[in-house]
Amino acid sequence: MTGCRPSQNHTYTAFNRSPGQMEALIGPVLRFISRAADGPRQTPLQINVMAGSIGAEAYTLASTLLSLRPNIDFQIHCSDLHDENVARCYEGIYSAEEVLATGLPERFFRTTFERENGFYRVKPAIRKRVTFFKADIVTDPLAQLYPPGDILFVQNVLFHLDCSAAHRAFTNALSTAKTHHALFIDGMSLDMRVDLTRQHQLMPLEYKIRAIHQHARRHVPEDWWNYYFGAEPYLFFKADRKRRYSTIFLTTQ
Ligand SMILES: C[S@@+](CC[C@H](N)C(=O)[O-])C[C@H]1O[C@@H](n2cnc3c(N)ncnc32)[C@H](O)[C@@H]1O
Repeated sequence: MTGCRPSQNHTYTAFNRSPGQMEALIGPVLRFISRAADGPRQTPLQINVMAGSIGAEAYTLASTLLSLRPNIDFQIHCSDLHDENVARCYEGIYSAEEVLATGLPERFFRTTFERENGFYRVKPAIRKRVTFFKADIVTDPLAQLYPPGDILFVQNVLFHLDCSAAHRAFTNALSTAKTHHALFIDGMSLDMRVDLTRQHQLMPLEYKIRAIHQHARRHVPEDWWNYYFGAEPYLFFKADRKRRYSTIFLTTQ
């Protein structure tokens, strides 16, 4: 299978990497989560981020929720395999290159960062919503390390694992989920996504599936067929199109 080759040292990430996913989060995903019987009415909304690299993904979530859904109480737990990434997450300081690489919207930029000695520091109110720690999503008992999650992010990591490790990591990540949950799962073999999401009775969220998939492809080389982490364009003739190209899944099991 060409889509699976091991390399756990790719740390590429970006702030506001998927604006379409953030729209889905603050709209249909939160509406779905709010309908859960054991949902976040009494307790904070719990978001579990796996393989969070240097923190851009978790901080993007925290900043987006604080700014656009200020009435929602939430907390985020985020882990990564590498100590140096976890240290950078805690520090929350980024270079201009790291912050500005993807042309952030002015509002996001202004509400997320403050300038500090030529660098950009994530604002304290955002930093305090996220707890960081080290974890291997393949081998560590994630259900013991994370609180039960309403929303899980396992993004752009499974395609860096070999096939059996990716299967183990997927199941391990799901073990941290509440019964009624949402899963964000970009960056994996598309065949594997179809198989695993069906096996686990996850339903694709019908929200801008094509646009979100196409936008994600900006972060990988154009000659995608030369890279194991490259992603094919949205192909209308493929079977299971929604399941194949959706990056967001919902379930009540
Ligand atoms: C390409 S980055 C993706 C970061 C972020 N999730 C995103 O989508 O922007 C992949 C991250 O996965 C982490 N990683 C690789 N193997 C891992 C493993 N077995 N357990 C936990 N994290 C892992 C790497 O350290 C890296 O930070």
